[in-house]
Amino acid sequence: TRGDAATAMAAAPQRLAFEFELGGQEQFYLEGQISYACPEEADGLSLYCSTQHPSEMQHLVAQALGRSAHAIRVECRRMGGGFGGKESQSALFACVASLAAARLNRPVKLRLDRDDDFLVTGRRHGFWFQVEAGYDEVGRVLGARATLVSNAGHSADLSGPVLTRALCHFDNAYHLPHVQLQGFAARTNTQSNTAFRGFGGPQGALAVELLMDRIARELGRDPLDVRRANYYAADGSQTTPYDQPVEDFILHDLTDRLEASSRYRERRAEVAAFNARSPVLKKGLALTPVKFGISFNVVFLNQAGSLVHIYTDGSVLVNHGGTEMGQGLNTKVAMVVAQELGIPFERVRCSATDTSKIANTSATAASTGADLNGKAAQAAARTLRQRLAAFASTKWGGTPDAVRFADALVAVNGQQLPFAELVHQAYYARVQLWSEGFYATPGLSWDRSTLRGKPFHYFAYGASVSEVIVDTLTGEHRLLRSDLLHDVGASLNPALDLGQVEGAFVQGYGWLCLEELVWHPVSGALLTHAPSTYKIPTANDVPAALHAQLYGEPNARDTIHRSKAVGEPPLLLAFSAFLAIRDALAAAGVAQPELQAPATPEAVLRALHAGR
Ligand code: MTE
Ligand code: MOS
Repeated sequence: TRGDAATAMAAAPQRLAFEFELGGQEQFYLEGQISYACPEEADGLSLYCSTQHPSEMQHLVAQALGRSAHAIRVECRRMGGGFGGKESQSALFACVASLAAARLNRPVKLRLDRDDDFLVTGRRHGFWFQVEAGYDEVGRVLGARATLVSNAGHSADLSGPVLTRALCHFDNAYHLPHVQLQGFAARTNTQSNTAFRGFGGPQGALAVELLMDRIARELGRDPLDVRRANYYAADGSQTTPYDQPVEDFILHDLTDRLEASSRYRERRAEVAAFNARSPVLKKGLALTPVKFGISFNVVFLNQAGSLVHIYTDGSVLVNHGGTEMGQGLNTKVAMVVAQELGIPFERVRCSATDTSKIANTSATAASTGADLNGKAAQAAARTLRQRLAAFASTKWGGTPDAVRFADALVAVNGQQLPFAELVHQAYYARVQLWSEGFYATPGLSWDRSTLRGKPFHYFAYGASVSEVIVDTLTGEHRLLRSDLLHDVGASLNPALDLGQVEGAFVQGYGWLCLEELVWHPVSGALLTHAPSTYKIPTANDVPAALHAQLYGEPNARDTIHRSKAVGEPPLLLAFSAFLAIRDALAAAGVAQPELQAPATPEAVLRALHAGR
């Protein structure tokens, strides 16, 4: 709670209220859950596991077998996708495979069939919202009250933390002076729902985006103008409902740039002209912003370790606590180490993630993989560079600070030698050529009982414009064009970051507009448990015109090379696709479309017919 929402709403010139239901989403990682457990000597066990959380697998397997953590070694080379679905839910299969391996004293591999994986494991939480707000003539929200109820499924899993993140993202890009939020995780008889890219953040932020859209339609104003009237101030003077100052709010400039590059205003007129002469096919257009908090809400999880080895030939092996799932984390971490030591990327290799190398790791989640492990690996590499610089200056003169590492060469006191040569010499001089590194995100605080504090190191921002066409006779729709402008700070790797932005957008589009989970009304069995009945987006659903760009300004915070986390935030860019469909329905004569998510053709037809 902040301020007095009830009084502010009562005093507001205008008021509205609505309810909204939105479905869950299957992670649909290409590689399903899989664990391979191998007994080792003296009650040891090695587990090769497709998991975002090797340390938790280690602890749960140890508990299941009644052994100590040091007897269990978990390794993850990479996952064929995780998307949050292997943060906690890999545990069941890890424990069952390990138990069988321990009982039979032989290796056991457990690999789920796609349908079983779909039927057994949980997914993104569906939500139900009730939102009320009071606002003024330009659409500024004066007071708001919302209740968010998530479908938790049969067990708690990560539903509490997911709900917290949903509540912490209800504000999205908007300053809400008086606000009262409450959240409930509802126990139901479905699969136990869990993490999925965004971790509740997308659900919470969608609620306020729907509010903005509704206010705009009540007032007859362009939704973008209503959004901008509610944006946080650029001067950093305002705080979120949970008391964190919004100090780096770049969305004014980012929105200006996207508005211009996407020709939003001109296309708004073009869409209106098209709709005026097209009775059946209707177009819609929407621009939506994203502000996403980066860090785990739980402070202690924001730590990471790494171990960097330089071998005597000058090649480097990096181990860190993060896991690779296709997001490119190992590439980013290797780039950081290569840059720190002034050697080519090809000289650095990331090993598999291994609990016997880095202990007590956090899940690779909350988009923090590169932020945390990049800093930890940089710290280890920096220690090594400093040791090598100290050795070089002792041997060849000059000061350690003046030694330069670049292009696989080391410059020391007016001379140059290959990095590998320096390493070789340092080894003979008995210099330690491996080091650990550690990082803990500074300045975080969070009070679980009051839901206040500074849970996020910084925010990542973005905005998108989508244009859709809807067939009002069949309810079918198509995404014609999307322009994405996303903030990744100073990108560690623009190719990977663009891949994350485009992939997250399309995945979010699938969630809100295509993918539908259906349970049998009598038996309760999930009927959509394979690609034959559950439609994820394909290449054919990607808009023909997809313009993704990185914003490119360095992070105001001291993050790894001033970059920003990118894994989850761009999923929220897909709001524009859903709200563009809503816009098209409004053009078809439904003043305030009761469109629920996912916006399947059936949902579109229901909204059309209910409103006419
Ligand atoms: N990208 C790919 N290709 N595969 C994945 O499984 N998971 C997403 C995101 N991008 C995922 C992905 C999720 S849910 C998170 S939290 C982040 O990557 C985790 O990685 P990071 O912290 O290194 O960004
Ligand atoms: Mo991502 S949902 O934090 O694994």
